[in-house]
Amino acid sequence: MHAHRAALLHCLADPREVGIEQSYQYFEDGLLLVEDGKVAQIGDAASLLPTLPAGVEVVEYHDALIVPGFVDTHIHYPQVDVIASYGTQLLEWLETYTFPAEGRFVDPEHARAQARFFLEELLRNGTTTALVFATVHPQSVDAFFEEASRLDLRMIAGKVLMDRNAPDYLRDDAASGYDESKTLIERWHGKGRLHYAVTPRFAPTSTPEQLELAGRLLREYPGLYLHTHLSENRAEIDWVKELFPERKHYLDVYDHYRLLGARSVFAHGIHLCDDECRRLGESGSAVAFCPTSNLFLGSGLFDLARLEGHGVRVGLGTDVGGGTSFSQLQSLNEAYKVLQLQGQQLDPFKALYLATLGGARALYLDEQIGNLQPGKDADFVVLDYRATPLLARRLKQARSLEEKLFALTILGDDRAVKETFAAGRSVHRRES
Ligand code: GUN
Ligand code: ZN
Repeated sequence: MHAHRAALLHCLADPREVGIEQSYQYFEDGLLLVEDGKVAQIGDAASLLPTLPAGVEVVEYHDALIVPGFVDTHIHYPQVDVIASYGTQLLEWLETYTFPAEGRFVDPEHARAQARFFLEELLRNGTTTALVFATVHPQSVDAFFEEASRLDLRMIAGKVLMDRNAPDYLRDDAASGYDESKTLIERWHGKGRLHYAVTPRFAPTSTPEQLELAGRLLREYPGLYLHTHLSENRAEIDWVKELFPERKHYLDVYDHYRLLGARSVFAHGIHLCDDECRRLGESGSAVAFCPTSNLFLGSGLFDLARLEGHGVRVGLGTDVGGGTSFSQLQSLNEAYKVLQLQGQQLDPFKALYLATLGGARALYLDEQIGNLQPGKDADFVVLDYRATPLLARRLKQARSLEEKLFALTILGDDRAVKETFAAGRSVHRRES
């Protein structure tokens, strides 16, 4: 058993459902007790310290705030090397930058080195759980899960399915995609803290046969995820219409192949009609809101109020390499502005919710992660109020927790992450 002493903040519920005051718990001088990789207890240091068994180590952090590890509900590990690539929107960006980069993952050594860098970068930014695209190559999934399991991280990933409209070197076929997915599911799904996601890239790159088989996999193994893209870009949507003229809208393609439901996560969902929003909500599907990507690729503005109004579970995603930062604090910075442009306000506690418990709920993992309730995985982050001169200066003016939290989300990034813990173990400590 060990203990961490600092200010502690975590979400208990969606502020939208219970009001802001009831949505979080805060201990100005708090103590977080960890045992066997789980949260054992959380509370005021003054009341918990005298109850500690003799010999328990207490680590104190000053000018720091402990929050749950961030949850990234949509990211591509093979796209790290194309982050910040100039001048294109989605379809041209895929052809010009992304597909060639993904092609290199045919080499397992390349995949392993990239997986290592990727996981280090996630942890450096305080993200402890992510829903991750690999590439079409099964060895890219093995490399990712091997590296994630060395660190005992809770991660979800899967082999990309794409059997048309992609370069030869990145195509599987309906049967091989199904068989390879099956092998990977049996090897990795439910092993330690790992989960498998059936991952058709998006409707245009899968034949009807492949989508049919994706649906079959979901029914063959309990607890699998479905991870894909939806309605991100206008040209993409027109293309889906051409390829599937018999379907009433984009989401209906996935619906037809029975790909909606609990643990189905659709990235973007920007240009949706009411019927699509309704079906996402009633099916228990989730949408990943990826603001840095949506701005960078010029895709459009995500309408959070509308999706939530339809009861859709929404998580926050970075979508690296379409997105421009691994930092969920930076995702929140851009999310705030995306919503401002639509006359919506992103309250700082709601922002924290989206990056933690909301993401966990979108992934149906809120019994395991998302906040610091006793019994949950001890995945947490120590944020540094003095990370930069500007942040320190701004926070000195702040008169409330709300104001501090807001400034952290607008000004913070990887520099604000002092230390990251997964299953109670330190997995990243910032230098200096
Ligand atoms: N749609 C299909 N593939 C991709 C991808 O790799 N990134 C993004 N942002 N959208 C996609
Ligand atoms: Zn994506």
